[in-house]
Amino acid sequence: MIKDIEIREATLQDLPEITSIFRDTVRSVNSNDYSEKQIKAWSSGADDMDVWKERIENLYFIVAEYRNEIVGFAHIKKGCHLDGLYVHKNYQRQTIGSKLLRIAESHIMAEGYEIINADASITAVDFFDSHYFEQIKKQKKSYKGMGFASSIFSKKL
Ligand SMILES: CC(C)(COP(=O)(O)OP(=O)(O)OC[C@H]1O[C@@H](n2cnc3c(N)ncnc32)[C@H](O)[C@@H]1OP(=O)(O)O)[C@@H](O)C(=O)NCCC(=O)NCCS
Repeated sequence: MIKDIEIREATLQDLPEITSIFRDTVRSVNSNDYSEKQIKAWSSGADDMDVWKERIENLYFIVAEYRNEIVGFAHIKKGCHLDGLYVHKNYQRQTIGSKLLRIAESHIMAEGYEIINADASITAVDFFDSHYFEQIKKQKKSYKGMGFASSIFSKKL
């Protein structure tokens, strides 16, 4: 397990690193659970710079840094909804996702919310299970013209 992970709020300068982590993680990690066509559509979201810019500017958006390299990120919308959580493909299972989640949960509690909700890909089900989330419902989300199986998870803080 690696130590010395720093968590901080994202800035617009982080855009290139954030979008390349997103693209690479979807292509190499989520590709275990989704079809080639789905992965192509999903990872192409990395190119929607205006969307990422808007997220960084308007959401609670944090990055995990290790030796000056961004190795993961998370963002929260609507106060208590974990909308995205991605860890660099070369740093999976090193507790970076757990650290990002812990800081996100602290922020949500500090804002006065008592629950956290999360949109979970099939890939992340075991991660949310291991953090005592409850699966509320399975759903099919539409993104760039494709359907994606995912689940809503929730936990009382
Ligand atoms: C889900 C994700 C964020 C987890 O991040 P991570 O840094 O690898 O997770 P952690 O190392 O903190 O894992 C904590 C625990 O979660 C569970 N877990 C995480 N990934 C798992 C996997 N692939 N299979 C089984 N259990 C898993 C384990 O219990 C793990 O503890 P352990 O390693 O001691 O067994 C990461 O796998 C990821 O980037 N996935 C692709 C993007 C994605 O689908 N994001 C979901 C929101 S859209």
